[in-house]
Amino acid sequence: MSTDQGPADLLPPWRALLRGARQREGRAPGSGWLQLASVAHDGTPRVRTLVFRGWSPSGELELLTDARSEKPAELMHQPQVELCWLFRKAREQFRLRGAARLITPEQDPAALADHWRRLSPSGRSVWAWPDPGQLFSEAGPWPREVVDGEPVSPHLVLLRIHLSQVEQLDLKPHPHCRRCWQRQDHWRERRLNP
Ligand SMILES: Cc1cc2nc3c(=O)[nH]c(=O)nc-3n(C[C@H](O)[C@H](O)[C@H](O)COP(=O)(O)O)c2cc1C
Repeated sequence: MSTDQGPADLLPPWRALLRGARQREGRAPGSGWLQLASVAHDGTPRVRTLVFRGWSPSGELELLTDARSEKPAELMHQPQVELCWLFRKAREQFRLRGAARLITPEQDPAALADHWRRLSPSGRSVWAWPDPGQLFSEAGPWPREVVDGEPVSPHLVLLRIHLSQVEQLDLKPHPHCRRCWQRQDHWRERRLNP
């Protein structure tokens, strides 16, 4: 996995634009937060914020989640997703469409262990809390940290999003610049009306 590099000549053109927008955010909190929209079992929409965790060796967008939350079951049923990523300083929005694949620690121990190792102790702690979405109980356990060297949580799930379409809207120029790339079109750039 890499946070944003790779062989430049093999990367789709929008990857450099996304990297530029991310760099412009600098260390602003929230620069790695994006919204993941999916469809629940009953066909109604769901959207929530997740942290961007990098790119897989084959260019899938990586996210981490908890196997006990709602989204893994929803995504197994209906894997099509859209991500919306806002870059406030760059005044740019990226909308990324694709299909989610779920990877558990049993399926790819090395990839999951790598992500687990790179999480901060406080970042890891949420996977040691009781089942997400259940009624709250003070009893917990609610650890603040899971220290380095602890085994990978069995609840850790890696989501790899195989992207099929990316759209950028840049509010800086006049008129605003809207561009779209599709995998089926070999990521050829099309400019659209904003
Ligand atoms: C800033 C922020 C970052 C978050 N990052 C993640 C994340 O990386 N992975 C995750 O599963 N949930 C993350 N969450 C929690 C989700 O938004 C969501 O509440 C949780 O995953 C349960 O969603 P679900 O019921 O749709 O499965 C984050 C929430 C916030 C506010």
